[in-house]
Amino acid sequence: MSEKNHRVSRRQFLTYTLTGVGGFMAAGMLAPMVRMALDPALEASGGAEFVSVGLSEDDLSEEPQRVDFNVEIVDGWYTSEQSRSAWVFLYEGEILALSPTCTHLGCTVNFGTNEEYPDQFFCPCHFGRFERDGTNIPGTPPTRPLDVYDVEVRDGMIYLGQINQRG
Ligand code: FES
Repeated sequence: MSEKNHRVSRRQFLTYTLTGVGGFMAAGMLAPMVRMALDPALEASGGAEFVSVGLSEDDLSEEPQRVDFNVEIVDGWYTSEQSRSAWVFLYEGEILALSPTCTHLGCTVNFGTNEEYPDQFFCPCHFGRFERDGTNIPGTPPTRPLDVYDVEVRDGMIYLGQINQRG
């Protein structure tokens, strides 16, 4: 009698445990969906709010200027700060903000540092080169253009948003 009770209680224990684990996993999968349904803004931001880079429209010229700034990355309830950089300048009358990360293997590109190509972005790691608008130059290692930031002007100040891949 006591042996039988014992066996049943073990089975019950297993049932409860498996139900609990299954429920926990289901909750883990459903929670992000519910969160996005309740707050679409969370998804839209994707952790890439527009951030002031401390430059005004009047500070801009056709000469690329490097700016360094911090962005807050929101992942669920966790917020962290990441540093970012951009080359910001006027190109054909538009504000262009390029990522300085080389699209070959991720080194940092600089503008005008190769004496032979003073009007190009240059990556010293493997001599990658990009046109002023970020287009990769055929015959150099990078196979796609530099990424570009979304740009907004608010009250005359430059704000940068998410980084977009091109090409
Ligand atoms: S990382 Fe820039 S050329 Fe290779």
